[in-house]
Amino acid sequence: MQAITRGNVKIIVTEDPGEMGRQTAGLVAEEMKKNETLVLGLCTGGTAVPIYQELISMYMERTLSFRNATTFNLDEYYPIHPRETSSYYCFMRTELFDYIDITSSNILFPNALSRNPSQACESYESLIQKCGGIDLMLLGIGENAHIGFNEPGTPRTSRTRMVALTEKTRASNSRFFDVLDQVPSHALSMGIATIMDARKIVLSACGAKKAKAIADALEAISTPEVPASYLQEHPDCTFVLDREAALYLL
Ligand code: F6R
Repeated sequence: MQAITRGNVKIIVTEDPGEMGRQTAGLVAEEMKKNETLVLGLCTGGTAVPIYQELISMYMERTLSFRNATTFNLDEYYPIHPRETSSYYCFMRTELFDYIDITSSNILFPNALSRNPSQACESYESLIQKCGGIDLMLLGIGENAHIGFNEPGTPRTSRTRMVALTEKTRASNSRFFDVLDQVPSHALSMGIATIMDARKIVLSACGAKKAKAIADALEAISTPEVPASYLQEHPDCTFVLDREAALYLL
């Protein structure tokens, strides 16, 4: 493991995705031990899997409990039924929630079935405020440096809203669907301002495919064209990478 910094951002470079998962889960556990009513922001996707496996192991070993924690997922396809296997809700159940002691009423998602998506997004923002804001936000990163579903061009002031998915993101996410046509064209996503309001942010990434996005996020000045570059302005942000994703930083 190697620790480096770029401006405000702390960077932990690990050997492989397994160690990336252990390090990220370790940061979650550290926060949960300080505050058992932690409000966690959670992402979905392949990068999250080793992190959630490690959190499940910690729960099984009785070193961590989620009983009093609250979770807000970053995003959900729209429209989609939570029971559909390709929904992010279903992903979270099968990858994490079904194996830990989280209280089901503390699992929160934007309402992807609402007939009024803008109202559903406003309610989600209000709910985050009502819970005292997000203490720790876990993020992945897209190959185009998106965070959540905030694609290049997203303004710093954006909040939870309905977004149109780019064809590239739809193609990349089609691995979780039977065919590309099934990938929804829209999603409800926390915005950049929602993410930046979190008290602590941890972005995790693995693999050579993410190396350019990581370098752009840290090397370029903060720009809407590289949504993850906004994180440079956050006072408490850590990137946990494997060696391949850190290729251009070492
Ligand atoms: C999903 C999300 C996305 C993913 C990103 C990386 O909730 O927020 O921004 O984190 O697309 O996905 P993977 O880890 O599958 O490469």
